[in-house]
Amino acid sequence: MQKQVVNLGLAGFGTVGTGLARIIQENRDWIKRRLGKELNVLKILIRDPEKKRSFIPAPETRLTTDLEELVHDPQVDIVVELMGGVDTAYEVISRALREKKHVVTANKALLAEKGNELFSLAREHQAGLYYEASVAGGIPIVQTLKESLSGDRIISLTGILNGTANFILSEMTRKELSFESALQAAKDLGYAEADPSLDIDGHDAAHKLVVLIRLAYGLDYPLNLLPVEGIAGINAMDIAMAGELGYRLKLIAQVRDESGNLQAGVFPALMSREHILAKVDGPFNSILIHGNAVGQVMLYGQGAGDLPTGSAVLADIMALARDDAVPNNTGFLEKVLPRADLVNTELSVCRHYFRFIAQDKPGVLAAVAGVMSEHDISIAQAVQKQELPGEGGGVPIVFLTHKAGLQAVRKALKIIDGFEFVNAPAVHYCILD
Ligand code: NAP
Ligand code: HSE
Repeated sequence: MQKQVVNLGLAGFGTVGTGLARIIQENRDWIKRRLGKELNVLKILIRDPEKKRSFIPAPETRLTTDLEELVHDPQVDIVVELMGGVDTAYEVISRALREKKHVVTANKALLAEKGNELFSLAREHQAGLYYEASVAGGIPIVQTLKESLSGDRIISLTGILNGTANFILSEMTRKELSFESALQAAKDLGYAEADPSLDIDGHDAAHKLVVLIRLAYGLDYPLNLLPVEGIAGINAMDIAMAGELGYRLKLIAQVRDESGNLQAGVFPALMSREHILAKVDGPFNSILIHGNAVGQVMLYGQGAGDLPTGSAVLADIMALARDDAVPNNTGFLEKVLPRADLVNTELSVCRHYFRFIAQDKPGVLAAVAGVMSEHDISIAQAVQKQELPGEGGGVPIVFLTHKAGLQAVRKALKIIDGFEFVNAPAVHYCILD
C-alpha cells in the first residue's frame, strides 16, 4: 500500500474494536516506526448510536449505522470486521472484498461456516482476508501454521481454544465456584461471546478448530460433521474426584492425522495434572502442535479480551498495510480447499473415567466390573466415596480404565446405566495422555 495514512473502517466497536483502537492510539509512534505510515480509524459501524462509548479514537472518527457507508467509502483502505455473528458480518466482508478492499476479521463462526466461499471471493478480487484474532485471541497461531510450520506435516494439534470455558473450569477447580458464578465472572470480564452458549456448548472451540484444520491441512472440515460436546453438564463432583486422582478437567479441541484421514472433535477430557496443557488456567489458551519435522511446539497466551485480541487484529492490519503483494490468505494454492476425509470419532481409543451414583449394597462393584470385562475394558483403578446426603443418596463410584475403544465403552455404559442399583446415568470422560 503506497499511502502514508492507511484508513480503517471498523465494523463493530465492542470489546475487541475498542481494544484495537486503544492500541492504535497508544502505540502510534511504534506503529509508524515499523510501518512507515500511520493508521487512522476513519469510520466505525455500530448498531446502537445512543450507546455511551468509553473511548472514541479521534474527534474526526465518524460513527455510522449504515453498512453501505463503511464498505463503499473509497477512502477506507482496510475493513476490520469485529461485529460477530454470521449474516451481517458476511455482508460486510463479502461487499468489502468485491470492492477489492482488504479485510481483517476476528470472526471464527463466520470463517468456520463460510470460510471457503469468502477465501475464494478474496482470491478472485486479489484482496487480503486475514484472521489471526479468530483463533486463540492474542496467540499467533494462524501465522505459525500458515508460515512458520508451513513445511511440516501436522500429525496432531491439541488445543484449549475457549478462554471462557477454561476460565469456568479453572474457577470451579480452584475456588470451588458454581458453574453459574464462574460464567457470570467470564461475562463481566469480556471473555464470553455475545451468545455465551457458544462458549459453553463447545461450538466456539469447534469454529476455531475448523479454522485451524484449514490452516494445518489445507482441507475443509464441514462444521456440521465435527463431534462437539461442551461443559454445561459438568458436575463439581467430577472436578473434585478428578483432582483427587491427579487429573484436571479441560475442554479440548483436537485433530489427528490418521493415515491421511482426519479425526477431530471438541470434548471435555481429563489430563494428568502434570500434562503441559493441564497447567493452562483461567482465560488462557494453548495449542500443542506435533509436526513431523519440528516435533512438539506449544503456544500459550491470552485467548480473549480487548487488548490481547486487539493486538492480533493490529498485526494483520499492519501486514496488509505494509505489503503490496497479493495476500496469501489460506497458506495453500488451491482456489477452493478440498474436503477432508473424516475418521469416525467413535473408533477412537483412550483411557476412560466413569462415575456412577449407585446404591451401596453387595454385588454392585462385581456387576459393573463384569460388564467391563465382557467388553474387553480393563480397570486401572476404582474408588468408592461416602454416601451422598439427602433423599435418594447413593455412593459415587469412580473407575479409571486402561486404553479401550470408545464404542465398547459406550455399549458397556448403556448396560450399566440400566442396572436397578444405578441411581443416575454414568458420567464419562476420555483421559488424554
Ligand atoms: P461485542 O463486544 O459484542 O461488540 C460487537 C460490536 O459490533 C458492537 O460495537 C456492536 O454495536 C456491533 N454490532 C453487532 N451487530 C451489529 C450490526 N448488525 N450492525 C452494526 N453493528 C453491529 O463483540 P466482541 O467481543 O468485540 O467480538 C467481536 C468479534 O471478535 C466476534 O466475532 C468475536 O467472536 C471475536 N472475538 C472476540 C474476542 C473477545 O475476547 N471478546 C476474542 C477473539 C475473537 P453496538 O456497540 O452499537 O452494540
Ligand atoms: N469467547 C471466546 C473465548 C473469545 O472465550 O475464548 C475468544 O475467541
